[in-house]
Amino acid sequence: MREAQDRLADGVLWIGALDPERRWFDFLPLEHGTTYNSYLVRGSTRTALVDTVHPSFAAPFLERLARLCPAGPDFVVVNHTEPDHAGALAGVLQAYPQAQVVCSRAGAKFLENLLHAGLRPRVVDETARLDLGGRHLRFFITPLLHWPDTMMAYLEEDAILFTCDAFANHFSPSSLWESELPSLEESSRFYYRAIMRPYRDHVQKALARLEGLPLRVIAPSHGPILDRDPAQHLAWYRTWSTPADTAGKAAVVYASAYGNTARLAEAAAAALTAAGIQVRLWDAAREDPSGAADLVDGVQGLLVGSPTIMGDVAHPIWEFLSQLARVPRRGKLAGVFGSYGWSGEAAGILEERLRGLGFRLVVPALRVPLAPASQDLEHIGELAGNFARELETTQEEGPR
Ligand SMILES: Cc1cc2nc3c(=O)[nH]c(=O)nc-3n(C[C@H](O)[C@H](O)[C@H](O)COP(=O)(O)O)c2cc1C
Ligand SMILES: [Fe+2]
Ligand SMILES: [Fe+2]
Repeated sequence: MREAQDRLADGVLWIGALDPERRWFDFLPLEHGTTYNSYLVRGSTRTALVDTVHPSFAAPFLERLARLCPAGPDFVVVNHTEPDHAGALAGVLQAYPQAQVVCSRAGAKFLENLLHAGLRPRVVDETARLDLGGRHLRFFITPLLHWPDTMMAYLEEDAILFTCDAFANHFSPSSLWESELPSLEESSRFYYRAIMRPYRDHVQKALARLEGLPLRVIAPSHGPILDRDPAQHLAWYRTWSTPADTAGKAAVVYASAYGNTARLAEAAAAALTAAGIQVRLWDAAREDPSGAADLVDGVQGLLVGSPTIMGDVAHPIWEFLSQLARVPRRGKLAGVFGSYGWSGEAAGILEERLRGLGFRLVVPALRVPLAPASQDLEHIGELAGNFARELETTQEEGPR
């Protein structure tokens, strides 16, 4: 890429890496690869490097850094220690031992756990101001966007905000500049949902702190540099991080080989509906598991039914549950049920898993031997009725 194209301002350069072939990133499937954006910021007296790249691109990155900045940076701002951004840090420090690492308090601890190098970084908070000579970097401490260590760096004079994982996109763009690309709304939303949604409270706190900040460019650490309308990205994150109204909404999720658990699920859904709850009945073996996160994000409670299959929960239910790490679910209510033949382990295993995910189990599990009799259908109706009452009484508190 030509250097003129990589300039955010005089003396502010993108020096990242494109990774168009990457298909998996942090266990997330990618269609069009990603990028690792690193930035070189020169003041009249000092130079700062903001983040580095994935370890697989460390060698070309270090070559380019040596060419552009032979004396090396004075500061390496580590906004986030995850190796996709700090992956070339060890190489940078080896080549330029005088460079001072700048990071958050949590970042300092993580760097020690990652590098075991006895680094003595400059730990910054929001009062710190790094003087580069005619240019100053300030910091916003933004934990959990994406890890507890994450912070953002703000170049005051140029109104450039280096946001690391926030406002990023996972693809390898044909141009580095948002203004030369079609709308990023869909791709930003995909990224937000996969990476930021579990921490939406923290997204909202970060947005509140960025309120009113002059912004010419947002320079994230993946995907295009946001030069079209930075405020639009803040507005999108504001919308996406506003929780849906889940009051009075529930889902009944089940899998069933012979229809027994399905009958219990249908009876549960009917009883919830009769109690005034808005219900979605979800057959996990038929529905696309990628919809699980949106389903659960939109409800206040979940009833999950699984038959016992070889001493375990049925596979489609595991697949469903495996999607839930990507949604905030702490404090949501849950209950379990299922048909079994002789040993019936599924309900207990399910309860344990749901509790582990942060759900509150508010009704006793219902296990039914083989085909539900009429009294079993009555029992699942009672379970669902009790669940509906729990939903109503916890509405005010609501899930986090
Ligand atoms: C492949 C297979 C394995 C099973 N393993 C167990 C088991 O380990 N323990 C048990 O209690 N029941 C077991 N069962 C019995 C089912 O739990 C029982 O048939 C149940 O009624 C199925 O409910 P469904 O119609 O909702 O699929 C198994 C059934 C199948 C088909
Ligand atoms: Fe990250
Ligand atoms: Fe990242």
